Amino acid sequence: STPLRLGIAGLGTVGVGVVKIVRQKAALLSARAGRDVVITAVSARSRDKDRGVSLKGYAWEDDPVALAKRDDVDIFVELMGGSDGPAKAATEAALAAGKDVVTANKAMLAHHGQALAEQAEDKDRVLRFEAAVAGGIPVIKALTEGLAGNEITRVMGVMNGTCNYILTRMQATGQGYDVLFDECARLGYLEADPNLDVGGIDAGHKLALLSSIAFGTQVDFDAVELEGIQSITLEDIRQAADMGYRIKLLGVAQMTGRGLEQRMSPCLVPDASPLGQLEGGTNMVVIDGDAVGQVVLRGAGAGEGPTASAVMGDVMDIARGFRVSTFGMPATALKQARPARAVTP
Ligand code: NDP
Ligand code: HSE
Repeated sequence: STPLRLGIAGLGTVGVGVVKIVRQKAALLSARAGRDVVITAVSARSRDKDRGVSLKGYAWEDDPVALAKRDDVDIFVELMGGSDGPAKAATEAALAAGKDVVTANKAMLAHHGQALAEQAEDKDRVLRFEAAVAGGIPVIKALTEGLAGNEITRVMGVMNGTCNYILTRMQATGQGYDVLFDECARLGYLEADPNLDVGGIDAGHKLALLSSIAFGTQVDFDAVELEGIQSITLEDIRQAADMGYRIKLLGVAQMTGRGLEQRMSPCLVPDASPLGQLEGGTNMVVIDGDAVGQVVLRGAGAGEGPTASAVMGDVMDIARGFRVSTFGMPATALKQARPARAVTP
């Protein structure tokens, strides 16, 4: 059978993680997919940077758009980041050229997910983004596949590893925000613009995507009520602890009589609860469905291995010929769907 050929744009934390998996687990991937999964071409800003992984045998493109259009690429894997600019241009070019796309880019999807999904469908292509929400936790697959027979009533959780790391370590160690922020950088958790993390925006992007999938609405990031963690002090955390609570950046999306409510903000959760006990870069997503009851998913929400794991889950689905619609229903159907926003009576 013919190999599945990947073109990877972006060789930072996540891109390097994907290269490592493809190189180190070639036999396992081939056995599982029934065909070889190979990287043919890569792109990043600096060709000379030592990335701690061999790029031998891969063609190099300075321009990710050129990479996206290459004849020897079947799946364009977008791991550069940024809601617009090269990531969007290259994703559009890849879809126009008839490639499937796998991306971890929640910022791009929160702003342009509907349009990109429509473009993919027009071309009978697949746009997958498991890594964009909650890192290594396969929550999009859970919603679109395992829970497809449920009416979802609520999705909530902790969806930003950086914020959870900073908040839990502030409490556990008494260390200040700046020291812990630097640790997040070392662990590969941070967005290129870390204000997206600590401002709650990155988690808001993820909540908007999950809401769309769970409730069959168009992605509507502007409807997410947002508050970040920048103003949380050690004193706030101590006072919460004294009362038996922890502060978590918690996202909640639920369908109400007024429409879909989406909120991402610092909340008090009981210390002894599963959410309260969530440490480090870990994420947790709690899904309520009418048939299943409650499902709780917990795992690493950021970092090289966990995020690359999710990217490869999408790649392997495509390798096996599994082409489920990106948002759990066709983008054309989402376009007709009920309005996402809660309307004030
Ligand atoms: P990094 O900043 O570590 O890497 C970004 C990569 O993109 C770099 O290799 C950079 O090149 C390359 N790049 C940037 N701009 C261009 C351009 N114009 N042309 C070509 N290459 C470019 O990011 P991450 O790996 O952390 O994140 C990648 C994506 O994954 C983002 O969308 C992020 O939101 C998402 N994500 C990240 C997670 C994480 O834990 N880090 C988890 C889940 C999702 P160079 O190295 O030469 O500078
Ligand atoms: N910056 C993100 C986080 C990466 O800290 O959770 C994972 O999406």
